[in-house]
Amino acid sequence: MCGIVGYIGHREAYPIILKGLQRLEYRGYDSAGIALYDGNNIKLSKTKGKVADLKERLENEITTTGNLGIGHTRWATHGIPNDVNSHPHYSNSGDLVIIHNGIIENYEAIKTELIKRGYTFNSDTDTEVLINLIEEVKKKQGVKLGKAVQIALNEVVGAYAIAVFDKNKPNEIVVAKLGSPLAIGVGDEEFFIASDASPFIEFTKNAIYLEDEEMAVVRLGKKIKIRKIKDDSLVNPLMQELKFNLEQIEKGGYEHFMLKEIYEQPHAIRDTYRGRLLAKEGIVRMSGVENHKEKFLNANRIIIVACGTSWHAGLVAEYIFEDIARIPVEVEYASEFRYRNPVITNKDVVIAISQSGETADTLAAIKLAKSHGAFVFGVCNVVGSSIARETDAGAYTHAGPEIGVASTKAFTTQITVLTLIALKLAKEKGAISNSQFHYHLEELELIPEKVEKALKSDEHIKSVAKTYKDAANCLYLGRGYNFPVALEGALKLKEISYIHAEGYPAAEMKHGPIALIDEHMPVFVIATKKGHYEKVVSNIQEIKSRKGKIIAIVTEGDVDVKKLADHTIEIPETIESLSPLLTTIPLQLLSYHIAVMLNKNVDQPRNLAKSVTVE
Ligand code: F6R
Repeated sequence: MCGIVGYIGHREAYPIILKGLQRLEYRGYDSAGIALYDGNNIKLSKTKGKVADLKERLENEITTTGNLGIGHTRWATHGIPNDVNSHPHYSNSGDLVIIHNGIIENYEAIKTELIKRGYTFNSDTDTEVLINLIEEVKKKQGVKLGKAVQIALNEVVGAYAIAVFDKNKPNEIVVAKLGSPLAIGVGDEEFFIASDASPFIEFTKNAIYLEDEEMAVVRLGKKIKIRKIKDDSLVNPLMQELKFNLEQIEKGGYEHFMLKEIYEQPHAIRDTYRGRLLAKEGIVRMSGVENHKEKFLNANRIIIVACGTSWHAGLVAEYIFEDIARIPVEVEYASEFRYRNPVITNKDVVIAISQSGETADTLAAIKLAKSHGAFVFGVCNVVGSSIARETDAGAYTHAGPEIGVASTKAFTTQITVLTLIALKLAKEKGAISNSQFHYHLEELELIPEKVEKALKSDEHIKSVAKTYKDAANCLYLGRGYNFPVALEGALKLKEISYIHAEGYPAAEMKHGPIALIDEHMPVFVIATKKGHYEKVVSNIQEIKSRKGKIIAIVTEGDVDVKKLADHTIEIPETIESLSPLLTTIPLQLLSYHIAVMLNKNVDQPRNLAKSVTVE
């Protein structure tokens, strides 16, 4: 993981890099550092902690002038988070400096060899090994920096997005990518380098995304030349126009990105179905599906691969694909799928779901599925991401940038896209009646305003949160379409408040978890009218007779559950298949408020990162 930023041009590099690192902190935030070239020398400062800690320290430590610089925000892989292991890293001569996102797997062997040749190492990182390998190649072979980087990278095994510069040649930065993202912003006589385009969005709308195994020498006064690392062949740079703006990646008056993103959901869901859902005409328009209709319609089954929250969206999709489109579905953790030698054929369709489009396990699962001839369809949020590029076809969620580490609007927009696909296929297959199809489209179109209504319970939810903020454990129960929402509710609470929580299918409770229930155990139950209501009411009775505290998410106007539960939170009525889009809202808000009340870092929970680009 980790975020990298670089700048070369006519502006002061420092403020651009610092701001850029703050925007990339979602990728890692255990340490940070910056190296600037001040016209004579490299000035480098780095520290354990967040970018804000770096800022405080750096301005006392080094001069921050200079038009060339690189910066890094880290999520540790090799070497604990401390000042020394933070990036950037110097080479032994002090001439070269590097930032790196990724892992060099064979670094031990290279390090041993370099030590034999007299190199010394300050840190425990694989990155310091790489920069010294580059230095060794450069010296031994008498080549320029770009060539040295290329030769060195052909010797390493692993993943990387790197930026390197040489203080003796301060008009260029060398960048390369394999497995980790790298975007180059192209301005007027200036270049920006970053893990994604957010650090440079206010400066240029033109970006080039390097593909795997590509490198570039970004040189002032020259057009960018991209080369294949392996065979040195030239690649035509593909300039893309960035479609998002600065406002979309700032907090817009909310205290946290997570809250902003929860509140953005009505808008985000509308953006997801805009132009695709034509309720009046009775049409679902999705070119990615349309162009590969036969693949979907003739598929033996759909295999969904994803991680975390995206996996939960996949579970919701399993219900809807099977229920409405009558297509068999299997939902797999990408991290298990990629290593368990699964049976995959060219009659399978694999749907990979990922907000970031960079999750290493999901990417590996896609590659595996493709190597067995399966057709792979991506559901991603980040445009131009690795997964979006690696898949045969796909549909973007159009949720806008999601910065809070805990995924919220990505989840609901993924479900929206997957619902549209299921409806389209159901119609094509004749698995759904015309009237049901129209009914589903009309109901889906109404979801954004119902989410708005659900958000209106925020104050009430906050008071419920206050009651349970000191719980040590929580249970989340749901059935059918809302079983995955129970899993998602528990994950949201765990990751931002560090309270232990488990999600279960409500009926499974009696096979074990019921033993946990006593008067100290809050149990969040999704008990909406459509969806096994009576059965869930029985489950609630079982909790009540064991003195568990019941917080129920109910359909507005509910009477029965209200009599039993300690607290109820109402959501508007909708059809069962769409209910996860509403039931999830109060659970997101509950977790948010509990975490805030516990003084946790909501947007950057400990040990986590937004984009999991390592195994
Ligand atoms: C939870 C969360 C993670 C991600 C998971 C997959 O709130 O954000 O569980 O869902 O790391 O990430 P993507 O969707 O980017 O592949």
